[in-house]
Amino acid sequence: MTVHIGAKPGDIAETVLLPGDPLRAEWAAQTFLQDAVCVNRVRGMLAYTGTWKGNRVTIHGSGMGMPSLSIYVNELIRDFGAKTLIRIGSCGGMQEKVKVRDVILAMTSSTVGTPSSSIFRELNFAPNADFGLLRAAVAAAEKGNAPFHVGGIYSSDTFYDERKDLNEQMVRHGILGVEMETAELYILAARYGVRALAVLTVSDHLLTGEALPSEDRERSFGDMVEIALEAAFA
Ligand code: HPA
Repeated sequence: MTVHIGAKPGDIAETVLLPGDPLRAEWAAQTFLQDAVCVNRVRGMLAYTGTWKGNRVTIHGSGMGMPSLSIYVNELIRDFGAKTLIRIGSCGGMQEKVKVRDVILAMTSSTVGTPSSSIFRELNFAPNADFGLLRAAVAAAEKGNAPFHVGGIYSSDTFYDERKDLNEQMVRHGILGVEMETAELYILAARYGVRALAVLTVSDHLLTGEALPSEDRERSFGDMVEIALEAAFA
């Protein structure tokens, strides 16, 4: 047990999928895993460990935003031995070619600041995905039906963003989508020498204002979970 994770030693698999929403962790475990057992309920941050095609997997909520994700990912890596961490989450589309329901594989993530910024000080560290995981995710996405994009995303600290000018610069520089967790995940993976990737579903769009109706979300999110699982065990 750690401060924020009530699991016992050995309860957490080396491969961990990280949805922001704990209820989506429950849904993904019930939908994709065999013999899923709940291994964390502290603060309602549900986690389940089971198997997928015979491989052990934990699906653990990360909460919203980099400070929350940072707590869980630090403990999952340092105290429970997680070696492959894949965020499965939603993002806002930032390019015309990126449509609601599309999947984004985040090669890099730009950010204004993360919980790790204080250690980098003046350095603009470039958080990036694990290349092997990214390559495997591309192969898995090519076999599926969901349109997908590979490129840079933006990890923001604010959902209700007042910096319209900053979003314009992101759009201008080809950033595919905005969410609130990936940059810190990639930085922690680099620090501890483990593998990380973010597989995202576009749930809303900053340019068009379109948003995915809630009944459509499950099917679209299912594509993303399958890509993440295929990539983890490729
Ligand atoms: N902004 C930030 N995070 C998000 C968004 C957004 O528009 N959509 C989904 N996660």
